[in-house]
Amino acid sequence: MICTVLEMWFRYPQVPMSMAFLVCRTPPKGLHSAVSWSFRNIACFSTSVKTNSDEQSVACPSDSTSSIWTINKGNNTNSKARFRQHVNPLAKRYQVPTDLPDDWPNDGTFDNPTLPLHIDIGCGKGAFLLNLAAQRVGAPDQEHEKRNYLGLEIRPSVAHFAKQRVPKWNLSGSVDFIGCNANVDLERILEKYVSFGGEVALVSIQYPDPHFKNKHQKRRVVTPQLVSTLSKFIPEGKELFIQSDIKDVLDGMRTTIREEGADYFLDSLSNMDEYISENPIGVATEREISVLKRGLEVYRALFVRK
Ligand SMILES: C[S@@+](CC[C@H](N)C(=O)[O-])C[C@H]1O[C@@H](n2cnc3c(N)ncnc32)[C@H](O)[C@@H]1O
Repeated sequence: MICTVLEMWFRYPQVPMSMAFLVCRTPPKGLHSAVSWSFRNIACFSTSVKTNSDEQSVACPSDSTSSIWTINKGNNTNSKARFRQHVNPLAKRYQVPTDLPDDWPNDGTFDNPTLPLHIDIGCGKGAFLLNLAAQRVGAPDQEHEKRNYLGLEIRPSVAHFAKQRVPKWNLSGSVDFIGCNANVDLERILEKYVSFGGEVALVSIQYPDPHFKNKHQKRRVVTPQLVSTLSKFIPEGKELFIQSDIKDVLDGMRTTIREEGADYFLDSLSNMDEYISENPIGVATEREISVLKRGLEVYRALFVRK
């Protein structure tokens, strides 16, 4: 363990020693990848995060509020704002369905709610969808159809932050972010979307939280239930894209999709040892930018709905 910690410390010297000891309290199984991932996170956090007066406002509201998803924390759109790193999606407070207007997405959220939808599950602060939409919405071309963009994010304050960014990017009417637990709300959200005549064009799940400990793996976002919901709403020929910098995490998602979605999804690569080398969407997520900057490996897979 000491060797692993020292090796990681050499790679990420900006991580304070006190944090290194905290990181040491990771599980024995998969120790190297757990320590490595923790260091990467802390390193990324230490280099990109600027102290900000809104820091204290980002903890999730307590269970005593009417809903954790209703959040009004002001208008902070500083992309270096600091947020709580992880939550437990199985905690009781995250089983509460999100607040969604009855007429969503026809409530003005999208200018044209019948457009095909790109949905990004676990979107974080939203830069990926904002960048993608900024490229595509203003200048639709023949290669790229006109779409709506929706990000789902479990940390209410992060979802709120992403939502606040939409008007600043002049993307109101094309992009939306919903604070929700995708494992609780995805089906209801997609049911609502298709009920107004739209359909799913693409689903992306990028760099999901790894939850390394064996006993925590059931917290991972790609579950058999999620795959079943996706198979119900992704139309034939449309795609599901997954990527991670942790091989085990990518392999885990891929296996779940292959097994639970055997009748519905076709892996574009038949061999589990092969991965797509390029991001087929062509826009990197925040996590991806930080991973690529360090020259670390990325594992990607693409499924097509049969
Ligand atoms: C490691 S971050 C990656 C964020 C972004 N996709 C990127 O690549 O930069 C994973 C994100 O998924 C969110 N998340 C985890 N479980 C979720 C769930 N059940 N529903 C929605 N979001 C979830 C986390 O809060 C976090 O923002």
